[in-house]
Amino acid sequence: MQTEVNGVRIDFIDEGEGPAMVFLHGFPLSKGCWQPQIDAMSADYRCIAPDLRGFGGSAATPGATTMDRFADDVGELLESLGAGPAVLVAHSMGGYVALAFARRHPEMLRGLVLVATRAGADTPEVADGRRATAEAVRSDGTQVVVDGMTPKMLAPGNDDADLLAAVRGFMTSASVDGIVGALLGMAERPDSTPDLPGITVPTFVVTGDEDVIIPPAESQTMADAIPGARLQVIPDAGHFVALEQAETFTAELREWLDNAGLAV
Ligand code: MLT
Repeated sequence: MQTEVNGVRIDFIDEGEGPAMVFLHGFPLSKGCWQPQIDAMSADYRCIAPDLRGFGGSAATPGATTMDRFADDVGELLESLGAGPAVLVAHSMGGYVALAFARRHPEMLRGLVLVATRAGADTPEVADGRRATAEAVRSDGTQVVVDGMTPKMLAPGNDDADLLAAVRGFMTSASVDGIVGALLGMAERPDSTPDLPGITVPTFVVTGDEDVIIPPAESQTMADAIPGARLQVIPDAGHFVALEQAETFTAELREWLDNAGLAV
């Protein structure tokens, strides 16, 4: 499905009926990566999964795309769909967006699932690295990022060819402007750590024990700082835990929703 949000074409999935769940993909992925969860949960929940601006089928805009901008797109999309307040299930960069959403649209938030993400800002070195990657993407295209990210998304040693092909597939539709915009936006994102103690919605922090992109210790730090948050570290999973251990991830998500009083 497509709609226009804040003047930009946004492509999204909207399946099922019930309490709203919004699935936010990581960088440089797209909405299809949540299909295992949507298939499993749309019988009980309204599952909404946008392609963030510049990714998948959504249009890109030039310049930095801040996490606030992505968050406002999500807020506007939910309003236009008459959906929410929602539980946000947010992977990695999607988690940065979810923390911005919690700051900017708290009235639309019912629960938070932070997947393989972190609250902190980039160090100056990491931010410089992102700007250099953005330059490389501008001159050589998106392949440099797709080739660089794909091998790091799964647990080291997981060479499942089908899964790796799927991971690559979720990245291929990202545009140059989309990837550059998100890189520059991530580089300038603020530190969300001071916000964590003020999060009042039920929160679930999930990660893979073999995540080489964002160390699981970051999840522990977030779970410690958010009042009442539950932490789950899923074994035999890397950064793309919701895909790599899809059944376990979905079962854990459902159990948490039930226990947190957020289920149907
Ligand atoms: C992601 O998976 O969204 C990115 O790796 C996050 C990041 O680069 O910080």
